[in-house]
Amino acid sequence: MHHFKYRDNVLFCEDVSVRQIADKIGTPFYLYSHATLKRHFQAFDTAFEGIDNLICYSAKANTNLAVLKLFADLGCGLDIVSGGELYRGLKSGFAANRVVYSGVGKSADEIDYALEKGILMFNVESLVELELINERAGRLNKRAPIAIRVNPDVDPKTHPYISTGLKKNKFGIDAEAAIEGYQVAGRLEHVDVVGVACHIGSQITESNPFEEALKSLITLIKALKKMDINIQYLDMGGGLGITYADEKPPPIREYAASIIEQLKDMDLKLVLEPGRVFVGNAGILVTKVLYRKFGGVKNFVIVDAGMNDLMRPTLYNAFHAIEPVVNSGKDLMVADVVGPICESSDFLAVDRSMATVDGGDLLAVMSAGAYGYVMSSNYCSRPRVAEVMVKEGRFHVVKARENFEDLVRGETVPPFLGE
Ligand code: LLP
Repeated sequence: MHHFKYRDNVLFCEDVSVRQIADKIGTPFYLYSHATLKRHFQAFDTAFEGIDNLICYSAKANTNLAVLKLFADLGCGLDIVSGGELYRGLKSGFAANRVVYSGVGKSADEIDYALEKGILMFNVESLVELELINERAGRLNKRAPIAIRVNPDVDPKTHPYISTGLKKNKFGIDAEAAIEGYQVAGRLEHVDVVGVACHIGSQITESNPFEEALKSLITLIKALKKMDINIQYLDMGGGLGITYADEKPPPIREYAASIIEQLKDMDLKLVLEPGRVFVGNAGILVTKVLYRKFGGVKNFVIVDAGMNDLMRPTLYNAFHAIEPVVNSGKDLMVADVVGPICESSDFLAVDRSMATVDGGDLLAVMSAGAYGYVMSSNYCSRPRVAEVMVKEGRFHVVKARENFEDLVRGETVPPFLGE
C-alpha cells in the first residue's frame, strides 16, 4: 500500500500534486511519501509484536538523512555495511547500540569506528575478519560483540546478482564451518559471542527460503548451546520482496507469523534487516519526456532520467511500472523508455505498453524508493537528481539537485601538467 494516487487524473503524493513539485523544482527527482514509509515500518513492527525483536532498517536501500531520521524516530535500529552508513545513521539519531554491521569487506578503519561508537554487533563473514576485529578491539581496549553470518546454502529464487545465501556466493561462513568459527571466537580475548546471523538474498517472493534458512540457524544455535556457547540474538537479515509488477510476496503478517512460530520455544531476541519492503514502494522517480522518436522498428520515449539515475532496469533487467503524471486518457503505445546516456543499456523500460506521451509530459517511474538514488552515479557528467519528501500537504527537498560545480568538486589539475 502506498500514497501515490490520482486525483482528477493528476498523480498526487499524499496531498501534494506531483506536477506542482515538478513545476517548482524541475526534473528528474526522487519523491518519497512520509506516510508510506511510516506505514511500512509500523506494519512490520505490529506483525512482530509477539516476539522480542529489534528491527534494523537496512540503510543501503535508501540512505537519505530524512528517511533515516524518520525510521530512527520510530524506534528502529539500523543495518549497515560501511563506515559511511554508520556516519549517516549516527547523524540521523540512531543509537549506536541498535546498529548491526554486515559485509564481507570491513576495513580496519571501519571496524575501529564501529568499536569506538559501540555498535550492537558485527556480523562477521570470515575467520580472518574475526581475527582482525579481535585485534582492533584489543588495541582500542574494547570488547567486540559478534555474530557469525551463516551461509545456509538456501536458494532464495531471486535474481542471481542479489542472491546471497548460496555456497557459491561470497557471503557468510557455511553452517558446518560456523561451528568452528564460534569455537575460535570463544577463545579470542576481545570478542563476545552474542549472535547468529544470515541474509539469504533480496526481493524474495516465497516463504520457503526464509523457513529453510531459519531451520538451519536454529539447528546451529542448538548445537552451540550443547557446547556452552549461548546465543542471544538471531539475525534473520532482510530480503522480503515487494510488488513491482505482479509478484505476490508473502504478506508481512504471514512472513512474521512463520518466523515467530519457529522461534517460540527459543529464548532469543530476533533481529531483522528489512530494506526494500520499507522504502521500495514509498518512492517514485519523476522524469520528463524530452522527445519521442520512431527508430525504424521501435518507438523510443527519450526521458531526462537515465541509467545513472536508476540503475535497476539496466543491471537486473528489473521491471518498474511507468505511469503518466497527468493521465490524459490517450491511446496506448508500445515503446522503449530510454535515457540520454550513450549506451544501449540505458533504458528504464523495454517494449512497454504505455499511454502515448509527447515531449514535455511527465512520467512517474514507480517503486523506485529502494536501491534507486543510492545506486545513482555521475556517469556522463550528469549531476545527481534531487530527492524530495512529502508529508501530507507539504514537500521538502531533502537532497538538493547537484550542479556542475558539484561535479568537479575535489578534482585538481597537477602542476606538472603545465610544465
Ligand atoms: N541485510 C543485508 C546483509 C543485505 O545485504 C541486504 C541487502 C539487506 C539486509 C536488505 O535486503 P532487502 O530487505 O532490501 O532485500 N541493489 C539490489 C538489491 C541488493 C541487496 C543487497 N543486500 C536491487 O536493486 O534489487
